[in-house]
Amino acid sequence: MLRVGLVGTGDAGKHHARALTTVAGEGRLTWSAVCARDAKRLARFREELAVPESVATFGTLEALIDARACDAVILATPDGVHPEQVERAARAGLHVLVEKPLALTRSGGERAVAAARVSDVHLAVGYHLRHHAAHRTLLARTNELVGNVRTIFVRWAWPDPATDGWRAKGDGARFWSLAALGTHAIDLAMWLAREDHASDVAALLDPPSGIDRGAEVTMRLGSILAHVSVSVAHRAVSRVIVSGDAGELEATGTLGARGDGELWHRAPRQAPVAIAFEAENPYAAQVRDFLGRARAPGTFSDDASLLSNLDVLDRITTLTTQGAS
Ligand SMILES: NC(=O)c1ccc[n+]([C@@H]2O[C@H](COP(=O)([O-])OP(=O)(O)OC[C@H]3O[C@@H](n4cnc5c(N)ncnc54)[C@H](OP(=O)(O)O)[C@@H]3O)[C@@H](O)[C@H]2O)c1
Repeated sequence: MLRVGLVGTGDAGKHHARALTTVAGEGRLTWSAVCARDAKRLARFREELAVPESVATFGTLEALIDARACDAVILATPDGVHPEQVERAARAGLHVLVEKPLALTRSGGERAVAAARVSDVHLAVGYHLRHHAAHRTLLARTNELVGNVRTIFVRWAWPDPATDGWRAKGDGARFWSLAALGTHAIDLAMWLAREDHASDVAALLDPPSGIDRGAEVTMRLGSILAHVSVSVAHRAVSRVIVSGDAGELEATGTLGARGDGELWHRAPRQAPVAIAFEAENPYAAQVRDFLGRARAPGTFSDDASLLSNLDVLDRITTLTTQGAS
């Protein structure tokens, strides 16, 4: 059974802890370690999340690696440290599920991917929305209910309470709305389009320069036009709309951590029809998928969309820097 360690006990760390508890309870993994630098915060985390006694505590990733306490790690740490931590873990032969975005830039992402390739470990990025049951149902029924896909629209507007956190200050982060929400929305659009590469990226940010609180991004995904709309400044019902020649599928209220929401099919000039799906915790589904891939022989599998996602963010930086000058 794979032994999994969790590094980082903040917001994302809590989602992963609940998922680890669930999947360990199914007998599919051993949650063997947890790692955070601040001992007091870690103690509170252990209590709040009812972390079992058997889960060993480490103060650094290095100590966790040296103790050979894990076969895989989940890195739920700030964006800026991801490439270096992925490299360290991969070099030690650990499979890695790292939170999104993989890095601040494409070149940082390439470092991480190269380390995983050399060590032949599985590298996954925490795009847990790929594992939401509504989105999986949407993807599976696209050919039947949408036909030839023309456009994809993803809107996620959620007032981020961490207004004085590292991301909001640009400390170890490149974007706020685009890294908290936008990279997820870009990933979802690419995944639903079954397209690893985005071209013709255009973007407007709010404010136009400085730390983004909202962003409107359009891009071409093969023959599909995609639009991503994100904001950390206001709340709106989240929407994922895939439209095509035969109709459209729309997931509402599915963007978040919970795994709930609704899925609708709209055929031209007909009443909307609700599509059933079995709601489950997308973080737990993500961990199960990660375990399956980590156990497969020749575990390194190149997912080109991970670096393409960073290409889109790089492109937005270039566009908005030019726009601001
Ligand atoms: N999938 C999602 O929807 C989702 C949701 C939320 C966050 N995230 C992602 O998860 C990551 C963490 O975000 P968060 O909101 O959880 O941040 P957070 O609440 O600030 O937590 C970050 C954690 O990392 C630890 N940490 C900070 N710097 C570190 C370092 N240099 N080395 C080791 N540990 C370090 C912090 O603990 P100590 O300072 O005590 O060490 C803390 O436990 C980000 O990449 C974010 O994009 C993803």
